[in-house]
Amino acid sequence: MDIQHLKNIAQRLMSGDKGLLAMDESLGTCNKRFEALGIPQTEEYRRKYRQLIVTTPHLEESISGAILFDETIYQKTDEGVSFLNLLEYKGIIPGIKVDEGSVPLAAFPDEKITEGLDGLRHRLEVYYSLGIRFAKWRAVIKIDKGIPTKACVRINAITLALYAALCQEADIVPIVEPEVLMDGDHTMEQCAQVTQDVLKEIFNALYEQRVYLEGMILKPNMVVPGLDCKVQNDVEEIAEATISCFLKVVPAAVGGIAFLSGGQSYQLASERLNMMHLRFGQLMPWPLTFSFSRAIQQPTLELWKGEDQNIGAAQKMLAHRASCNSDARRGEYSRAMETF
Ligand code: G3H
Repeated sequence: MDIQHLKNIAQRLMSGDKGLLAMDESLGTCNKRFEALGIPQTEEYRRKYRQLIVTTPHLEESISGAILFDETIYQKTDEGVSFLNLLEYKGIIPGIKVDEGSVPLAAFPDEKITEGLDGLRHRLEVYYSLGIRFAKWRAVIKIDKGIPTKACVRINAITLALYAALCQEADIVPIVEPEVLMDGDHTMEQCAQVTQDVLKEIFNALYEQRVYLEGMILKPNMVVPGLDCKVQNDVEEIAEATISCFLKVVPAAVGGIAFLSGGQSYQLASERLNMMHLRFGQLMPWPLTFSFSRAIQQPTLELWKGEDQNIGAAQKMLAHRASCNSDARRGEYSRAMETF
């Protein structure tokens, strides 16, 4: 394990005003999004879409790293250039989703555990040899009556810590992603409490598992009310709740924090990130950025619709959304920028 290498990669991922692009949708998720827009759900269409993303002009000005799905790392452009080589050429660090999705947690109805530890050591070796320098593992936590249970939070924390330690052993920077879901009618305050409990458990587990904090990145949810909650807090309240939660439980040594978007509208995701920097920029001990999938990609996918003649417009939208989030990282984003 090369500590300096891990730290350097984490620093490069969090550098300047850039953020991460999550383009690691599993086959099921990608196909579901294609289906909703009438795009054929085939490997070739997934390749075409990912080609659209990796060949987008100026993407590297706002994006430091891209999280890929296993299928994508072996794919090539129409001209035969490997996506991995193209990303490296643009200075975008390639990463990989290594979890194998979440399944029901035995004996705990409605709760999930993420799978993928079996054989992970070997997979990480292979990924490193292909040029992958960071990885991602997502744990899913749902808020509802009586859940999350302590047992669910603990087992997901231990699993994340073991994954992170295996990554660092392979000189791969782990992105630790605990997602407290937005589904439900819980309040922002409930989300804050659960997020805080989950992060506390995770950092305990990471510490016990001897994970090197400077060489990892946390990818959390923002502290927001459930989608069905009657009270939808304003941008300032959400920024404050999120940062005050992290200040309590995320050690200053962590390489950085990069948010998931979790189903927020793309404007809200950018506005909330922007407000955190505007209001609390001076207080934060860690670099804070984005690692969005839907909040960057959704408008792009809607423009593309699987049609070659839409590629140019879709790429402009992708670069625009990435750059809006980069502006948010400087506290310079406003909704007016969306009249693109
Ligand atoms: O695991 C989920 C992705 O990395 C983030 O996706 O921004 O659409 O929540 P999202």
